[in-house]
Amino acid sequence: MSETAERELITDFTDVSMDDLKVKHDTVQTKLTGQEENELILSAYVARNSEVFPKVLELHVDNGSTIADVTYGKGVFWKNVDLGDYEVYASDLDPKKSPSGHSVDCRNLPYEDNSLDVVVLDPPYAEGFFRKNKEMLAGGDGSHQQFRESYSNGEVLDTNGSKYHQAVLDVYYKAGIEAHRVLKEDGTFIIKTQDEVSANTQELTHIQITNFYEGELDFYTKDLFVTVRSNKPAVSGMNTQVHARKNHSFFMIYEMDTNDPVNVLYND
Ligand SMILES: C[S@@+](CC[C@H](N)C(=O)[O-])C[C@H]1O[C@@H](n2cnc3c(N)ncnc32)[C@H](O)[C@@H]1O
Repeated sequence: MSETAERELITDFTDVSMDDLKVKHDTVQTKLTGQEENELILSAYVARNSEVFPKVLELHVDNGSTIADVTYGKGVFWKNVDLGDYEVYASDLDPKKSPSGHSVDCRNLPYEDNSLDVVVLDPPYAEGFFRKNKEMLAGGDGSHQQFRESYSNGEVLDTNGSKYHQAVLDVYYKAGIEAHRVLKEDGTFIIKTQDEVSANTQELTHIQITNFYEGELDFYTKDLFVTVRSNKPAVSGMNTQVHARKNHSFFMIYEMDTNDPVNVLYND
């Protein structure tokens, strides 16, 4: 019989103080030193994309890797990355944002099959950027012009016939298929996304995309980072609030490697 089991069971609590029952932290937790704590990469940060993206690379991408950022935008992700550590290719649908000056659609990339270690994807995540009427584009009232400029070129984007939230998903799905083609067998696919409420419906975009990537493309979902913005999100024309206003977004990390664990899919 073990020592613990031999101990007398206490049924009379008159001599037992609360302090006797308190779990002593240092007996059950391994404490990290201050330095270890600083080095540890966490799953959530109140920080900018440019601060979180280097951590994603540090944890998931080897130095010397070949990386294609296929929605380069203003290159914010790379602001705090030493470009000498990787071989980076960058492109965007908007030729003004493509460092080469060429318009490159993330759904039709100019790379060979099985040629890249990493693909980075961050297309417009909100259905407002795909609206047919230019006046109705997100940020179209002039108040969020800078935001709009970062996310689209201010033009209605080609959605191949899809509308609203489905148009958002469509780009992620088609770009995912294309990333799968150009990635090496052990490649890593990093995406940035944010959930949205569209037509009064909660759309958990990061889950919808993950279901497609796991179910249709056999990606393994290796990690998820949450980025929480430090300032308040913009509010326009709010009546009665129905859903929590989103102030967080995700970096999702998917792996091609067939030796990786497999996600369990629940189908019924
Ligand atoms: C959220 S911004 C990207 C921001 C970028 N990650 C950065 O660090 O600055 C979205 C970008 O996707 C581009 N885009 C939209 N549709 C695209 C497509 N089909 N192929 C490539 N780029 C696209 C837009 O022009 C825009 O620059």
